[in-house]
Amino acid sequence: MLLVVGGTGELGGRVVRLLREQQHEVRCLVRATSGTAELQSMGAQVVRGDLTDPASLKAACEGISTVVATATVITRRLAGVRKPSIKEADEIGMASLIDAAEAAGVRRFVYISFPGVDAGIGTPLEHAKLATEKRLERSTLQRVVVRADAFQEVHLAPIGRFDLAAGKVAIIGKGDTKQRWISQDDVAELLAVVAVEADPPTMIVVGGPEAISKNEAVAIAEGFIHRPLKVQRMPRPVARLAIRLLRGPNDALASVFGAGLLQDLHAADWDDEPLLQRGIKPQSASTYLRDQARLLAPAQEG
Ligand SMILES: NC(=O)c1ccc[n+]([C@@H]2O[C@H](COP(=O)([O-])OP(=O)(O)OC[C@H]3O[C@@H](n4cnc5c(N)ncnc54)[C@H](OP(=O)(O)O)[C@@H]3O)[C@@H](O)[C@H]2O)c1
Repeated sequence: MLLVVGGTGELGGRVVRLLREQQHEVRCLVRATSGTAELQSMGAQVVRGDLTDPASLKAACEGISTVVATATVITRRLAGVRKPSIKEADEIGMASLIDAAEAAGVRRFVYISFPGVDAGIGTPLEHAKLATEKRLERSTLQRVVVRADAFQEVHLAPIGRFDLAAGKVAIIGKGDTKQRWISQDDVAELLAVVAVEADPPTMIVVGGPEAISKNEAVAIAEGFIHRPLKVQRMPRPVARLAIRLLRGPNDALASVFGAGLLQDLHAADWDDEPLLQRGIKPQSASTYLRDQARLLAPAQEG
């Protein structure tokens, strides 16, 4: 049986669905206050627990062969939830989950991270992800770390301040650095495959099929919506200062600024090969933007 930690999330939910479609037995660790109906309707077993509750992690790992860990507290922190912090959940909680997996004799641990996690931007999320990667390196588990590039549905969407409906985009830095924006569906498919494939690599760095900068994404989107987008730019030094000032009082916002700064500093030197090798047909950022534009003005877009 596989344990998915983060199954009520955008990515984790897709992973559960894919694993269940392939008839794998799946257990999900779900926080006490979160709904379980959707996971149960997919045929997943649900156990209550929390990354900050080591005893619940121990119970959840009993009888599990593979853990897939996608959980993160950042979305709830951005929504204003005060506890737990990124350090408490994404770092200490993930370490407790690895401890629990080891103790229960779990064989494989699949973990989602991001490229440039070791770039030293200095955000709480970067710290937590890197600490978890290092903890996994030291563990007895067979680790599969998937470092996926920025998600299209986050960074080319309103939540990432790329808002076609409002006509506004926020860019950190110059916006000329090419990224391989990847779709959540493709990342989920990759996670679901490596969770069960015979001999997966310990590290996979992956992006989408198309390398384009934020400025290029803006131009492509403008072509689809037939009007200019208002671009607000935050210079790199301002972003660095914001990260330094916010990482104590607002760990999530500091981490968001860090992601934007990272995207501006480091061009993607990875690609979509890990997807293609596994028969996954990746969706391009342009296609994603075209679809978003069509949702706005179905009659206008050709
Ligand atoms: N955005 C990007 O561009 C990008 C790029 C690379 C990697 N990633 C990584 O991909 C993952 C994104 O996953 P997602 O889209 O599924 O995120 P999401 O939609 O925000 O879901 C987060 C999940 O974590 C669970 N969770 C939060 N706090 C928890 C706790 N204390 N104990 C147990 N579970 C907890 C949530 O449960 P509730 O529903 O109960 O809150 C939810 O299931 C993250 O690990 C992220 O760092 C993202």
